[in-house]
Amino acid sequence: MGTTPSDSKRVEIFDTTLRDGEQSPGISLNTQEKVEIAHQLARLGVDVIEAGFPITSPGDFEAVQAIAREVQGPVICGLARTHKADIDAAWNSIKDSDRPRIHTFISTSDIHIEHQLQTTHSDVKGQAKAAVALSKSLCEDVEFSPMDATRADVEFTAEVCAIAVAEGATVINIPDTVGYTTPEEYTAYLHRLYELVPGLDGVTVSVHCHDDLGLAVANSYAGVLAGARQVECAVNGIGERAGNCSLEEIVMLLRTRTDEHGLDTGLDATELARTSRMVSRLTGYPVQPNKAIVGRNAFAHESGIHQDGVLKERTTYEIMDPTEVGLESNSIVLGKHSGRHALRDALEQLGFQVEGGALNQAFKRFKEIADKKKQVTALDLEAIVSDEIRERADSYGLGWFEVSAGSRIEPRARVAVRMPSGEESIGESGGDGPIDAIFGAIRAAIPTECELRSFTVSAVTEGEDALGEVTVMLRAHGRLASGQGVATDILEASARAYVRALSNALDGAAVREAEGVTQDAAQLPATPGP
Ligand code: KIV
Ligand code: ZN
Repeated sequence: MGTTPSDSKRVEIFDTTLRDGEQSPGISLNTQEKVEIAHQLARLGVDVIEAGFPITSPGDFEAVQAIAREVQGPVICGLARTHKADIDAAWNSIKDSDRPRIHTFISTSDIHIEHQLQTTHSDVKGQAKAAVALSKSLCEDVEFSPMDATRADVEFTAEVCAIAVAEGATVINIPDTVGYTTPEEYTAYLHRLYELVPGLDGVTVSVHCHDDLGLAVANSYAGVLAGARQVECAVNGIGERAGNCSLEEIVMLLRTRTDEHGLDTGLDATELARTSRMVSRLTGYPVQPNKAIVGRNAFAHESGIHQDGVLKERTTYEIMDPTEVGLESNSIVLGKHSGRHALRDALEQLGFQVEGGALNQAFKRFKEIADKKKQVTALDLEAIVSDEIRERADSYGLGWFEVSAGSRIEPRARVAVRMPSGEESIGESGGDGPIDAIFGAIRAAIPTECELRSFTVSAVTEGEDALGEVTVMLRAHGRLASGQGVATDILEASARAYVRALSNALDGAAVREAEGVTQDAAQLPATPGP
């Protein structure tokens, strides 16, 4: 007998930046970076943090466990295939959280069942049943996803979901895994599931949409209008291939058009801009200038007619107030005479708890920058602290560099790199320009094969003395890795970014070698079934 969708007006936000988002090529976050992002997600007020896929590597397990132990507020969720080993790893990583959730999944589309799983429909049903039952025996809160649901037969998907509900799943998530569906089709699919799955009205229905056709937000919105009350999304829309539904877009869509549907989330939207900047910095994925909500130009008015209108009345050309999403709230200003206390207070206001050695290091960086820049703002402080979070004592680091360049001399650079052993290695090189020479010298100091894929420079704030922020993406040891660096001098920012990217690639390669996994295997581990 059919059931009806939820009439609650509260839509829960399930953030998967640290799981699906982290599966974007070139992103390699370490535990400290993931914990920092998770704290910021908690400040933002997300309902659920999908902290990782713990079976994939000891590093992933450790990060999920650290988040489960440290981050209060949101539900902390770990992903698992239907295999016993996955579920045990997920549970062991999240069990110290006050609010743990296991998220288990198996595909229901024929394409996946035939070609990837190479099994039968009846086996899929058996695996789903066993996985939800096992998860439920460990954890009260269990989410089940029929992967690739939107390309699967709806009747079969409904049978599998009904099994999951009967076994005690608390959330049923319907993924558009390959970003194939359309709003009308997704709506019809969900309505049909509500008709076919007994008890679906008693659990939370969730949507998980990918952006391959640019429809992730539109499809998620359609899903919510059809009755879903959880949206899975990622900050800045990062994720597999074209990414996931963008968190900031769906949140502001629900808020701005609440007149239309009466729905809203529980998020503190004023934290959106900061969360976006933090994720962009730590992942090395820049935000396009025209990105909705958080792009640099999202509230910029170029045409004279628009500027004239906004000056007379903001709402003539603005449907949201930039302060609603935390833009233009940059009131903290420090200078070169500001002391350690002032810095700590300012960092606390920004949500960073920095003490002891970390505060000393942040203060040293702050002084260096304040000597060169008249005013150090909240945006600068965020950039400096993120830069420090990225610096790892056990990895490669930039010691110093010298460069000579000009239109009449051949560029040359000497760079000292601090090796993980603590020793210094010096490299020298010429190049097409000063940055190319610096990169060559770093490669000479850390001899390894690598190829530069992209290099971007941006300014942290406006003005001539703005801090420069550089992002480098390179390929080394068969894997993409990114790094970022911040400094008043873009040559120094470039050197920092390059050393970090190389160090991320080399650390990742060393970890995978020690664990005996390849990058593909890390994303879809081969472990025995339940
Ligand atoms: O896209 C997808 O289907 C997923 C599942 C694991 C939910 O990420
Ligand atoms: Zn996904």
